Amino acid sequence: MDLFEYQARDVFEAHGVPVLAGAVAKTVDEAVAAAETIGADSGGVVVVKAQVKTGGRGKAGGVKVAKTPDEVRTHAEAILGMDIKGHTVHQVMIAQGAQIAEEYYFSVLLDRANRSYLAMCSKEGGVEIEQLAVERPEALARIEVDPLVGIDEAKATEIAQAAGFGDDLLPQLVDTFGKLWDVYREEDATLVEVNPLVKTQDGTIIALDGKVTLDDNAGFRHPDHAALEDQASADPLEAAAKEKGLNYVKLDGSVGIIGNGAGLVMSTLDVVAYAGEDVAGQPKPANFLDIGGGASAEVMANGLHIILGDEQVKSVFVNVFGGITACDAVANGIVGALNALGDQATKPLVVRLDGNNVEEGRLILAEAAHPLVSIEQTMDGAARKAAELASAAN
Ligand SMILES: Nc1ncnc2c1ncn2[C@@H]1O[C@H](COP(=O)(O)OP(=O)(O)O)[C@@H](O)[C@H]1O
Ligand SMILES: [Mg+2]
Repeated sequence: MDLFEYQARDVFEAHGVPVLAGAVAKTVDEAVAAAETIGADSGGVVVVKAQVKTGGRGKAGGVKVAKTPDEVRTHAEAILGMDIKGHTVHQVMIAQGAQIAEEYYFSVLLDRANRSYLAMCSKEGGVEIEQLAVERPEALARIEVDPLVGIDEAKATEIAQAAGFGDDLLPQLVDTFGKLWDVYREEDATLVEVNPLVKTQDGTIIALDGKVTLDDNAGFRHPDHAALEDQASADPLEAAAKEKGLNYVKLDGSVGIIGNGAGLVMSTLDVVAYAGEDVAGQPKPANFLDIGGGASAEVMANGLHIILGDEQVKSVFVNVFGGITACDAVANGIVGALNALGDQATKPLVVRLDGNNVEEGRLILAEAAHPLVSIEQTMDGAARKAAELASAAN
């Protein structure tokens, strides 16, 4: 999960990273009111900042300095509702205005290829770092961080010196890097990026922009992280699926997909997309849904309920390979789910079962003879059938 800048600012503050005062606002009036409080300590100067989960807001006109309440109003009016790289601005952050002398860059991230963490730092921040990395790689220090040691004083010093900082800023930088490491480790982040990390005209180091990605897999350790989720832009079906503990991703097509095991579901998406190319309207997969190993009637019913709740879905492909949970249990699950759903089950279901106890499973489905269910022997055949049904329903 990526955080908005204002959330990153709050998290930084909680870990003692030096930041400026900031408050989020959803309306122009809220922005003006926030600016009154926030600007009190900076001579009335604030910055109105678009809150969208993408970089380059400054360049897009989403970061504006305001010296008076009227300017706050003008900028908030312009920025709220603005589109930045396909993201609509629903909120702005009012931040205290900084007197910037220099802009630096710092980040720590998960380096999968090297099975460790990586810290990056540059005296040339503010600009897009990807560009700097390509054009002047020598200006971007890259220092490996041992996950078991982290960024202690020695490592922070190494990072700062590799980036070319002199002794004058060292104490502040070492302290800030250490605290940003605390954010990274204690919040289970996979990215903490500060661009720009600034030196103000009076020589103080401040994190002026923050980008934080939290590891969702560590969510169970952080009950407070749920509150950081962006409910407004969450897909309602994905939210409902998450509540039921289902591994579901909404896609754009019309063939609903249910399978057990992420690998099987991924290949089912491919097979359906491929089969769809040959039929009218070229139907595509409507979702990813992995119901996992124990495909009980309840889990199957929950999955079907989510998929049938998607208006775009015209047919459903249930692709299950019986393993520890054998095909007869899965077939009972499907029959049970359809019974539980009753009138809510309205779209044709193509079922392909294989693996452990496949004969028993097919027999259970055949005997139930549900009018919406057809059984196919192969994955390709079932994909074709589901695509045809979706195409015919259009
Ligand atoms: N609080 C602030 N005070 C003064 N200038 C700021 C402030 N916040 C941002 N800026 C300026 O705006 C630029 C872009 O802002 P930033 O928050 O980095 O957004 P983005 O990275 O999305 O463009 C910064 O590099 C900095 O020069
Ligand atoms: Mg930035």
